[in-house]
Amino acid sequence: MKILSVVGARPNFVKMAPLAQQFEKRGATHVLVHTGQHYDYNMSSVFFKDLALPSPDKHLGVGSGTHGVQTGRMMAELEKELLEESPDLTLVVGDVNSTLAAAIASVKLGIPVAHVEAGYRSFDMHMPEEINRVLVDRISQLLFAPTENAVLNLMNEGMRRESIHFVGNIMIEALLGNIEQAKDSQVMGNLGLKKREYFVATIHRPHNVERENLKLILEMLSEAPLPVVFPAHPRTREAITSCGLEDVIAEHVVMIKALGYLDFIGLLSSAAGVLTDSGGVQEEALVLKVPCLTLRETTERIETVRAGANRLCGLNREKVRNGLRDAVENQWRFEIPLFWDNHVSERIADIIEQEDFSIPAHSML
Ligand code: UD1
Repeated sequence: MKILSVVGARPNFVKMAPLAQQFEKRGATHVLVHTGQHYDYNMSSVFFKDLALPSPDKHLGVGSGTHGVQTGRMMAELEKELLEESPDLTLVVGDVNSTLAAAIASVKLGIPVAHVEAGYRSFDMHMPEEINRVLVDRISQLLFAPTENAVLNLMNEGMRRESIHFVGNIMIEALLGNIEQAKDSQVMGNLGLKKREYFVATIHRPHNVERENLKLILEMLSEAPLPVVFPAHPRTREAITSCGLEDVIAEHVVMIKALGYLDFIGLLSSAAGVLTDSGGVQEEALVLKVPCLTLRETTERIETVRAGANRLCGLNREKVRNGLRDAVENQWRFEIPLFWDNHVSERIADIIEQEDFSIPAHSML
């Protein structure tokens, strides 16, 4: 069995780590391809180091660009790799452009696709990630769903029942496997912060880095009742500079460069709360029992809201203010969904091993 996995952006690396270890343990032939969507040290290499992810067998060096340019370049390069490697299965994780490019390139060559994190839906087609999720699920032969609700979403869209497998949340397996080591992180101490006496903020969605929205978010962070550590995505940092918003940031908002995985989850685990527009951070916060305020109108991670751990605040100042106050003063619920555990990669590998790949990909759709 030969599996070719494709990663490209920060959250991909986290999800791939437990899978790569699982495949290695079972002696599967595993080819890891990095598209190069993320390329800065602290957006890419540090994750390979922190997660002990093997270096990619191939690095395509695609880099940034408009969605069309970036996705197109990745498809052209991935097609060459797939033809050369001729795997039995292409494995993709999450919802980034690298995931979409790999799924399209693969299925068009008749190579089946397995999608890990299938079935999440925000039902907001303005988000590039939602477009990617819907399209990748539609053309994947193996749909590995992280939650029961994701299974329902897939069934509602008419996916073949035999393709859908409820396996749990791979991001959480990575978190559980690394959290002890992450507690050694020096970031909190270096910034002179104390446990539960600061918030963490991460902002990078295109909508949230438009000038007026970004200004409002920076004002909301500046009104927080505790210091805010703000590890900024390169695009957010650039937008702050190009929009001249440095002066909006209060002194107790500490903007630092994007953190590696261990430093980030270490910092998050001791925070009083987190403000974010990321997907994975909503899930990590739930499991780490850190109140989460999501600066979006919708979430594909609806379980985190149902669990009591996450509030959708959009860019509503009142909701954010109340949320920050409640994070400090009140009890929050943190009900962990089923299969958000450290056996997810095992379930996935078991199913892949049992699958019959002699059936052509298209006839399984
Ligand atoms: C991508 C994913 C998003 C994920 C995020 C995690 C898509 C559609 N979006 O968004 O779902 O939450 O990654 O970070 O795939 N840049 C750098 N250095 C880097 C990478 C990017 O400076 O290492 C800059 C680029 O020049 C570009 C911007 O960041 O201006 C956006 O990068 P891109 O990879 O296109 O998307 P993300 O916003 O990071």
